[in-house]
Amino acid sequence: MSDDLEAKIQEALRNPQNVGEMSEADAVGTVGSEGCGDMLRMWVKFKEENGRKVIDKATFQTFGCQTAIAVASVATELIRGKTPTEALSLSGEDLSAPLGPLPPMKIHCAQLVEGALKDALAGESKPAAPAPQQAPTLI
Ligand code: FES
Ligand code: FES
Repeated sequence: MSDDLEAKIQEALRNPQNVGEMSEADAVGTVGSEGCGDMLRMWVKFKEENGRKVIDKATFQTFGCQTAIAVASVATELIRGKTPTEALSLSGEDLSAPLGPLPPMKIHCAQLVEGALKDALAGESKPAAPAPQQAPTLI
């Protein structure tokens, strides 16, 4: 991983944005499995702005790696103010762009964020699911 990317990831990890369950969320999306650890859940709240429905706020929880946390942190900031359609058009690469290009082995971490966001926006009327309660068991 490049030094610049590593520095940006560390910076995001020092002060990750939008971590945690959002009880007032309008939508929730989950990808991966709690069992294997690569799991990410995202909560999204909408608001009306100039007659358009836009993302007011998004939060996340994950058992993914540090890169997944860093991408989710920047992505939840990036999507604020976007319509669901605009947010749905964003790829993992777009969502992680504030960190810079990811190495091939880390692209999956950004795809986890993309998957959770798409899952949330695909079912906007789903009730919020409970937050993951426990970390995966290490063996
Ligand atoms: Fe199944 Fe990670 S191994 S989601
Ligand atoms: Fe699986 Fe980053 S979330 S390696």
